[in-house]
Amino acid sequence: MKIIKSPAEMQMAADALRSKASPLGLVPTMGALHDGHISLIKRAAKECAAVVVSIFVNPTQFGPSEDFDFYPRSLDPDLKICKDQKIAAVYAPSVEAMFEKGFDTWVEVPSLAAGLCGANRPGHFRGVATVVAKLISICRPERVYLGEKDYQQLVLIRRMILDLNLRVNVIGCSTVREKDGLAMSSRNANLGENERKRALSISRGLYKAQDLFVAGERKVSEFKKVVRKELKKADAEIDYIEVIDPDTLELLEMALDSSRMAIAAKVGEIRLIDNLPLKE
Ligand code: PAF
Repeated sequence: MKIIKSPAEMQMAADALRSKASPLGLVPTMGALHDGHISLIKRAAKECAAVVVSIFVNPTQFGPSEDFDFYPRSLDPDLKICKDQKIAAVYAPSVEAMFEKGFDTWVEVPSLAAGLCGANRPGHFRGVATVVAKLISICRPERVYLGEKDYQQLVLIRRMILDLNLRVNVIGCSTVREKDGLAMSSRNANLGENERKRALSISRGLYKAQDLFVAGERKVSEFKKVVRKELKKADAEIDYIEVIDPDTLELLEMALDSSRMAIAAKVGEIRLIDNLPLKE
């Protein structure tokens, strides 16, 4: 397995991989790999002739008061996971290599970035879209694998790829959960024991909303009520609780089949997000 640090070297390695066999898959990550990432990597390995995993904690998607410095980092165990999964190359550039001196080009998807996580994280999706566009441009994969846990990110990247005519298929993969329902996230590593228990209120709220939907409820205000109750019991600080159109992210007042319920909340200092489709 190659470990590549510079964009030029990655471009050459990706060209070589693509010329030998197709399709080339890319799994973009910020490292601290967990079972959610492993499921993306496994799916990519199954569907692609060769896979590149990128590991880059992208400073441009963190706000000044956010957790860039505290974001978990574990390069050596991450490399071992990639090696075990027989990944062709890991791309792990430095910040300086990704954003060279004088860097001045940004990708924005303003309408899809405006609400939900974007409302309280100005500039976050500009950083995400820019770095993903760069990763795609460097690796030129035929397939890129992203998790549904970051649902707004997934929809926004699909839009960016369409709008910029980037020739790559986006494969959205289901959220992987701990046995008790907590969505896997690198940030879970920063939860203390008590916070870990309280964090469960997010998935519990989502499942309760899903049960209500199955029982015939369609009013979003009713779903919000049950979720709010769960989060309040756990003393989680609500950022948003919304039911959204799965393609446009439009906020809904009446849920439709396969609308998604999306939640962001802080447990202690840790901001967590999760979402589930509402369907029979
Ligand atoms: O989902 C993530 O881990 C990041 O936002 C991504 C897509 C790797 C871009 O930095």
